[in-house]
Amino acid sequence: MKYMTGNELREAYLQFFSEKKGHLRLPSFSLIPQDDPTLLLIGAGMAPLKPFFTGKMKPPRTRVTTSQRCVRTGDIENVGRTARHQTYFEMLGNFSFGDYFKGEAISWAWEFLTEVIELPKDKLWVTVYPDDTEAIEIWKSQPGFPQDHIVKLDDNFWEIGPGPCGPDSEIYIDLGEERGCGSPTCGVGCDCDRYLEIWNLVFTQYDRTEDGQYKPLAHKNIDTGCGLERLASVVQNKRTNFETDLLYPIIEYASKVSGVKYGEDAQKDISLKVIADHARSMAIMIMDGILPSNEGRGYVLRRILRRAIRHGRMLGIKDKFLEGAVDAVVEIYREASDFGELVAKQDYIKKVISIEEDRFAATRNQGMELLDGEIKELKAAGKK
Ligand code: SER
Repeated sequence: MKYMTGNELREAYLQFFSEKKGHLRLPSFSLIPQDDPTLLLIGAGMAPLKPFFTGKMKPPRTRVTTSQRCVRTGDIENVGRTARHQTYFEMLGNFSFGDYFKGEAISWAWEFLTEVIELPKDKLWVTVYPDDTEAIEIWKSQPGFPQDHIVKLDDNFWEIGPGPCGPDSEIYIDLGEERGCGSPTCGVGCDCDRYLEIWNLVFTQYDRTEDGQYKPLAHKNIDTGCGLERLASVVQNKRTNFETDLLYPIIEYASKVSGVKYGEDAQKDISLKVIADHARSMAIMIMDGILPSNEGRGYVLRRILRRAIRHGRMLGIKDKFLEGAVDAVVEIYREASDFGELVAKQDYIKKVISIEEDRFAATRNQGMELLDGEIKELKAAGKK
């Protein structure tokens, strides 16, 4: 296995698909969906490419590769509690619009994982849609593929609301028994941290209509998504995504401001991780033009920001501290391609966050005054 920084890993992936496999390398799209009322935020590499899958628009090339910035908040309560959940992450992807299909998608994923970043073949597992015998045969023909490491799973079908979708095949790495939950039924697909899903290959064949019908697409496509932070945790041999160089500098910052050391108290570690995750989400959402508000995307941002402040309080931080977290985020991405805007907007992002921190403090103080008043009145009346 090769040690790589997060930025090196992103480059290795994009170069492999652009230089060796003929894909057009595109920069990440904004987190704000364009002409897509079905989505609040971009949460998958394929989301901004939907018109190319459906044929509504002609792609600049039939093979494209990106590292797409994504925000997903459905799992927000898991952030900091598992090794792998985040609200902000980058999804590495290679896409085919009516060009190559399963054979190439599977063999290139195998080549990248086992030859470029040299993951141990005997630790890799895959899942497939139960009746996808074609995918099973293709996996079995990969050089050195452990023949019994294939699991059929009914829920191997990927969709994100209406739009292009299809059966998928997921790639997992076994991180060892000591990382597992110990349950006798623990295996691929278990929720614990032992088997880590690192890549999803979707064989995009259908278009789900608003009323839930699955219409075959005119041509077959490929949509893959490989989590950059998860893969970084594997090649950097870290127990969680939060200890990789894509997040740890923010933990170090929060640790310095709060005086709380990472790794000494499980509850406090959760708060440090939440701050690290949320700092990246808020900085990049603001970079893409979202502002805190009481509705839509702006509300998602406000909620993330206030959640980070609350976890700061839980660590004992009394003053404003998020501007410094933004500096830590910017340093992580300073040398990365695609993040020039983050560096250029650093001061603006800090300003937006600073205003929101003040606003939240004022709201909180006002709330505390009201609460104190009520308590005083109750006490005066001899009540509890
Ligand atoms: N769309 C799939 C996912 O998000 C693969 O890119 O997992």
